[in-house]
Amino acid sequence: MTDALITRFRAVFARDPDFIARAPGRIEFIGNHTDYNGGPVLGAAIDRSVWVGLSLRSDGKRRFASDSKKGVLELESGAPLERITGQNSWVNYPLGVLAAMRDSSLPIPGGFDYMAVSNVPMGAGLSSSAAIELSSGLVFLKATGTELGREALVKLGRKAENEFVGVPCGILDQGVSGFGKKDHLVYIDCRGPRFDTVPLPAGSNFWIFNTHTKHALIDGLYAARHQECMEAAKVIGVGLLVDATPAMLAGAEQKLSRTTFKRARHVIDEIARVAAAVSALEKGDLAAVGKLLLASHRSSRTWFENSCPELDFLVDNLESEPGVYGARLTGGGFGGAAMALTTDAFGDEAGQRVSDAYLAKFGSRPEIIHARTGDGASLITR
Ligand code: GLA
Repeated sequence: MTDALITRFRAVFARDPDFIARAPGRIEFIGNHTDYNGGPVLGAAIDRSVWVGLSLRSDGKRRFASDSKKGVLELESGAPLERITGQNSWVNYPLGVLAAMRDSSLPIPGGFDYMAVSNVPMGAGLSSSAAIELSSGLVFLKATGTELGREALVKLGRKAENEFVGVPCGILDQGVSGFGKKDHLVYIDCRGPRFDTVPLPAGSNFWIFNTHTKHALIDGLYAARHQECMEAAKVIGVGLLVDATPAMLAGAEQKLSRTTFKRARHVIDEIARVAAAVSALEKGDLAAVGKLLLASHRSSRTWFENSCPELDFLVDNLESEPGVYGARLTGGGFGGAAMALTTDAFGDEAGQRVSDAYLAKFGSRPEIIHARTGDGASLITR
């Protein structure tokens, strides 16, 4: 893909990129909506990424292009950094990173030519947005000669998403894209945040089924869940739900609305499931991990209400396939993708069976990706 980026960069800008960076998409392994509640989460960087190339210009023009949209968007570096609407709205990710750098008192590049190419499917819950934020951050920092640690880069990405793009997400997506490691899961204690890795037992496979469905209100629904969790914490009397125990939840049940009770129930149980998954992984007990994945999905469906019929159907079907340890929705929910943790025995034929059943029910096929783990964001030196 680095070659594809260079070829496209030359075709559009008639020159070579001076700096190239790559950042991966991610799977949310377990820990659904725990991150902004201060809880722990496990994710994996996948072998699909966004590549960004950049060359500085001396005329103050910032020119943005990508392999997914036609044309070049030209902005003046002297103009205020403002959100863009319409078909060029993808540019809000790199613009958000520039704004986050500026607001963190870091130097930002003036004029440049910028190109992004990607093989992370968009809208699948695999965080193509975090991947573009981190790869953009790396080239912008390099272009201004700024040295910044991995954790600070991850935080810049999240700041861009929270403050410029306007999604109140936690640290999961950027953290996993930044700290990913091949054959490992990334563990994030989101309160710190503190980043760590957990070895993935040999013979673990990830299969992703992208439904291509996206709830029209997804952004609003994510923000609403965030709000409900904060409300629940307030009524229970803690700063964040990570500090609430099951007993505290039971004690506050009468004071909570039915909705806020359900959201808190999911988050509190899910935090316990992440801890259980870490110890099962340490013992190499993938069967136990699989059960936790299924329990996580059912909790999302019942308590957090962020699943949908397509995802439930996939998880139920996958559960009945030989070689599947467990399956669950991955990411924010309300559409997007389900992922399965499988043995080596699960292959294309099994994937096809699930796809056929899905086709018969919903009239279209899911996109199937056999993902491998990959390394986190890095600059590419040529
Ligand atoms: C999205 C957000 C993450 C996280 C997940 C749900 O992917 O970007 O921060 O909240 O949803 O766990």
